[in-house]
Amino acid sequence: VLLTNAINLDDIERAARRQLPRAVFDVIQGGAEDETTVAANRAGFDRFVLRPRPLVDVSQRSLRTTVLGEQIALPVMLAPTGASRIAHRHAELPVARAACAADTIYVQSTVTAYPFEDVARAASRPLWFQLYLPPDRRDVDPLLHRVAAAGYSALVVTIDTPVFGNRERDRRSDILATRVRVPVLMQGLQRPRWAVDYMRGQIGARMPTGGRAKPMSQTSTRKTVLASTFGVTWSDLEHLRERWDGPLVVKGLMRADEARRLIDVGVDGIVVSNHGGRQLDGVAGTIDVLRPIVDAVANDAEVFLDGGIRRGTDVLKALGLGARAVLIGRPYLYGLAAGGEAGVARVLAILRDELDRAMALTGVCDIDDVAHDIVGSRAPADILR
Ligand SMILES: Cc1cc2nc3c(=O)[nH]c(=O)nc-3n(C[C@H](O)[C@H](O)[C@H](O)COP(=O)(O)O)c2cc1C
Repeated sequence: VLLTNAINLDDIERAARRQLPRAVFDVIQGGAEDETTVAANRAGFDRFVLRPRPLVDVSQRSLRTTVLGEQIALPVMLAPTGASRIAHRHAELPVARAACAADTIYVQSTVTAYPFEDVARAASRPLWFQLYLPPDRRDVDPLLHRVAAAGYSALVVTIDTPVFGNRERDRRSDILATRVRVPVLMQGLQRPRWAVDYMRGQIGARMPTGGRAKPMSQTSTRKTVLASTFGVTWSDLEHLRERWDGPLVVKGLMRADEARRLIDVGVDGIVVSNHGGRQLDGVAGTIDVLRPIVDAVANDAEVFLDGGIRRGTDVLKALGLGARAVLIGRPYLYGLAAGGEAGVARVLAILRDELDRAMALTGVCDIDDVAHDIVGSRAPADILR
């Protein structure tokens, strides 16, 4: 499947699979251990059904909304991913550009190929910054200064990564090893377009601002990852709230009974997320826990969701269950691998089109105003109601 023929996100995934060496594709697609949580994220959406409202004039529709005070053209944002370098030599830059062109927000990961100031400069609107805490807590305040100075408008603190998840596909291929192993090298030779792109990326890319940015190799990305102490505690969070003036978002909550405490610390947003099933295996699908968390938060913060969003109807279900917006991870990395900036743009355009059609068919005119009753559970009693 070529990018131009792709009509849904599964097609884009297939295009990426063709483009990438197996082990590289596995880094993106894989999850922790038996990948039951990866599957649960998808299966969860099937437990909910849409309940179309009939006889509504849907000739005028709006997908525009706001997240923490910022306008976005559709309720889909790009989640932080630390692996764009292996999908495309320009890594975060085309992702940032495609997000801005679609008028939505890219949450930039701490783990980047380019210095994050360069990524911010490639963007025509403020990005959000996802934070993994540096191992030495004295480095936190200077880092926050840099992030604010670079123009990032919100800080997203990931709380589900005190240690790295057990991703067995990556351990088997040993892809994070310092030196590329022979089997991975052989796979690379079967994907010459990818191999050439990757090698060119090692040389350094011209920045939009002139000058040259030196992309980090996979090795130094690995160093960044391994050198970070990802564990965030309540006291870290309180410290961050004190030092960060803008909106503060926590990413990785999966239980409703901890939501109030986050509100008390002063967070403005919560991303219901299990890291795309890449951290703790055996966790519920995100859509399964969304409603209880939304109820606990009770409008005192905005609630977002990621994990398994592959269709416009998934977005609509999440919004019906109370999410303000959703984020996608793997799909845009597949787009990036298959077609660079155009590939990421394509992913957003497909989701936008599907969501717009789903709204019309469900009787929803304004995405900012999705009634809770458009979603039901698949339990037969509910469907018959
Ligand atoms: C290759 C890859 C790298 C990721 N890196 C990060 C990261 O650096 N920080 C983070 O908070 N989440 C990271 N995530 C998790 C995503 O932000 C997001 O939670 C997840 O991908 C959503 O699920 P989806 O891929 O099914 O859309 C990563 C996900 C993938 C697939």
